Amino acid sequence: MPLLFEAFIYLLIGAVSASLTTDYYQKLISQETAKSLTYELPKKNEEFRSGFESNEINDYGIYDVVIVGAGTAGCILATRLSEIRKISILLIEAGGEENDFNQIPGMWPYNQFSEFNWGYYTIPQKHSCLGMNNSQCILVRAKVIGGGSSINGAMYVRGNCKDYDNWAALGNRGWSCKEVLPYFKKSENSQVEGDEGYHGIGGFWNIEYSLPSFPLFDTFINGSLEMNLPFIDYNGRTQFGVSKLQSNIKRGRRQSFGTAFLNNARKRSNLKVVTKALVTKITIDRRSKRATGVEFVTGNKKFRVRATKEVIVSAGAINTPQLLMLSGIGPRSHLRDLKIPLVADLPVGKNLIEHPVVTWVVRSNYIAPNTSTEESVEQYLSGLGPLTKGANIDGLSFFHTRNNSGEGPAIQLVMAAPPAVVSPLFQRTQNFNDTISQAYAKLLQPQTDIGWYVILLHEKSRGRIQLQSTNPIDFPNIDLNMFEEQEDVDILGEGMQYAFRLFQTEAFQKINATVLDDPICSNFEKNSKKYLECVIRNYASSGYHRAGATDAMGPDRRKFVVDDKLRVHGVENLRVVDASIFPLGVSGNTNAPTAMVAEKGADIIKSEL
Ligand SMILES: Cc1cc2nc3c(=O)[nH]c(=O)nc-3n(C[C@H](O)[C@H](O)[C@H](O)COP(=O)(O)OP(=O)(O)OC[C@H]3O[C@@H](n4cnc5c(N)ncnc54)[C@H](O)[C@@H]3O)c2cc1C
Ligand SMILES: *[C@@H]1O[C@H](CO)[C@@H](O)[C@H](O)[C@H]1NC(C)=O
Ligand SMILES: *[C@@H]1O[C@H](CO)[C@@H](O)[C@H](O)[C@H]1NC(C)=O
Ligand SMILES: *[C@@H]1O[C@H](CO)[C@@H](O)[C@H](O)[C@H]1NC(C)=O
Ligand SMILES: *[C@@H]1O[C@H](CO)[C@@H](O)[C@H](O)[C@H]1NC(C)=O
Ligand SMILES: *[C@@H]1O[C@H](CO)[C@@H](O)[C@H](O)[C@H]1NC(C)=O
Ligand SMILES: *[C@@H]1O[C@H](CO)[C@@H](O)[C@H](O)[C@H]1NC(C)=O
Repeated sequence: MPLLFEAFIYLLIGAVSASLTTDYYQKLISQETAKSLTYELPKKNEEFRSGFESNEINDYGIYDVVIVGAGTAGCILATRLSEIRKISILLIEAGGEENDFNQIPGMWPYNQFSEFNWGYYTIPQKHSCLGMNNSQCILVRAKVIGGGSSINGAMYVRGNCKDYDNWAALGNRGWSCKEVLPYFKKSENSQVEGDEGYHGIGGFWNIEYSLPSFPLFDTFINGSLEMNLPFIDYNGRTQFGVSKLQSNIKRGRRQSFGTAFLNNARKRSNLKVVTKALVTKITIDRRSKRATGVEFVTGNKKFRVRATKEVIVSAGAINTPQLLMLSGIGPRSHLRDLKIPLVADLPVGKNLIEHPVVTWVVRSNYIAPNTSTEESVEQYLSGLGPLTKGANIDGLSFFHTRNNSGEGPAIQLVMAAPPAVVSPLFQRTQNFNDTISQAYAKLLQPQTDIGWYVILLHEKSRGRIQLQSTNPIDFPNIDLNMFEEQEDVDILGEGMQYAFRLFQTEAFQKINATVLDDPICSNFEKNSKKYLECVIRNYASSGYHRAGATDAMGPDRRKFVVDDKLRVHGVENLRVVDASIFPLGVSGNTNAPTAMVAEKGADIIKSEL
């Protein structure tokens, strides 16, 4: 009897706490999604102004290593370097802590309209973003512990072997495909059915499938097989084919580098983490050209901290070049125009690379079931269901559109099953102008429309980051400059034509897949070159926001900013470790490649400490 009674009480408490948890998440989701619909992104780093303008400068002491930015790279570096107990480390992050909401992968678009996003837009564009307000594309950059890994789509993609061999061919010793593979595996705790020899088990970072797959996932696979793509592990032997998405989640929850890595190290007494702190300058001894520390602002106060061994900048592909230029490291003429004393004349901010993406909608006669938030939350709490997927994505494929055998795949195609792109946030995440927003609002049907992302992986056009002013409270000027080169339009157009053929396959005809007329380009004949170009120049935007090469790695300091040990050319005790050092684009999303760079960077630094 007592045993039974106990079991009864236990069950009762279990049920009550489960429903409290369900309640909590339901409220959280309805609050946070509502907030983000009207959230105004900041136009400057206003929250730090009063601290920056104060005349007093406080002493923050001395550390061996100071790391700027606790994003993907910064979290990994801090975790790995603090394994050496005699090294003291300060990690400085502009954003705050993660929360229960950003842990839900399915809520990722909403984080883009929250304090977890810096708030950047491109400057008005000439060749792209023409359907956006004032021809400005939105450019989401994370501002939170974990950086991009805390707000991204959780897609785990390494890129292609050729990408890294091409990095090595530029003169970067140690960065060939064979040499970087161990660093991909080192982070990983793989739960997927991958190719043998290509995956790591026992690392901090959990990789698994989000389950169950959407019903339309099979349609995508079957259609792609009809197009002669093989079914593959795209992080394995070959990247050309169709595949099930591997996600950085653990039992359905996001595995950011805050959760997966930094949390293992935060208790260590040799690591200190400061949040809500903006680094405004790297201090450099002008005579010896040696980095000595940084200045930062937090809680309305200005501080100076000294670094005896290294300053490592991991502020991401936009903010790292900004901070270097504010500190006198950049193109001579640009710094002269702004009257910033020159420390090193380097091509900082040039060669910005992006993955342009066309987001596209196809109607079907498949009708997604209406799932209540309560049901989704219950599934999520057991590690399953739509909330465990970034943007309802299950399937993806990689292919060439023509004979370009010197590079990895030209195109990445990603399917988002309904109900996905039609969230009320869609217009805002794209910054569509009113004509397009209103037309789309009338056109889209949440439960039948499939979202497609056609992504150009190796653009030829190059953009640029410049300072708007010498004031770190101002955002930098970001010029993505997508589609300056016609070849980029042509190849992305070929990627779209490939998708149109996919919709003609038997698998997609079974659900009557039909490309919708769009509000702007329907006066051109569908599928014609003019039509594709119209779509691309009006609608394509920053491809999940992964820029690189603004501090590219290579031997020649006229062309590159850091050497193959990630040291800034011509300045001592200063390194850059983040996505900005990619000298050439990678064939896929950028989070895993950035993690690889940080793992390798940590080993390089450890060997010198
Ligand atoms: C919305 C979105 C979706 C994405 N989806 C995917 C995906 O599904 N898969 C994938 O692989 N990649 C994805 N990415 C890209 C990926 O997340 C990034 O490439 C990766 O996080 C880059 O890492 P990083 O270390 O270079 O920079 P970040 O992760 O951006 O980290 C930089 C950190 O530095 C901080 N910082 C910047 N300046 C300062 C300063 N002056 N002082 C103090 N701190 C500062 C920032 O707040 C930030 O936390 C996505 C990115 C975004 C934004
Ligand atoms: C939106 O962009 C389209 C395409 O460039 C243009 O035709 C339309 O006039 C724009 N609408 C507004 C309100 O700017
Ligand atoms: C996919 O193909 C398999 C094998 O031909 C078939 O059994 C299945 O019904 C197909 N599924 C869809 C959704 O087309
Ligand atoms: C789902 O809900 C929407 C809005 O509440 C409603 O219009 C639609 O008919 C429902 N669809 C199904 C299949 O139940
Ligand atoms: C593709 O190009 C490579 C070299 O660029 C060449 O060796 C090969 O024969 C070409 N293949 C086809 C099918 O044209
Ligand atoms: C575009 O600009 C108009 C006019 O300034 C504004 O009303 C609208 O909300 C903007 N759209 C987006 C997506 O921000
Ligand atoms: C297929 O889609 C088209 C366009 O949306 C529609 O006109 C047609 O009725 C659909 N056919 C079937 C069988 O659902």
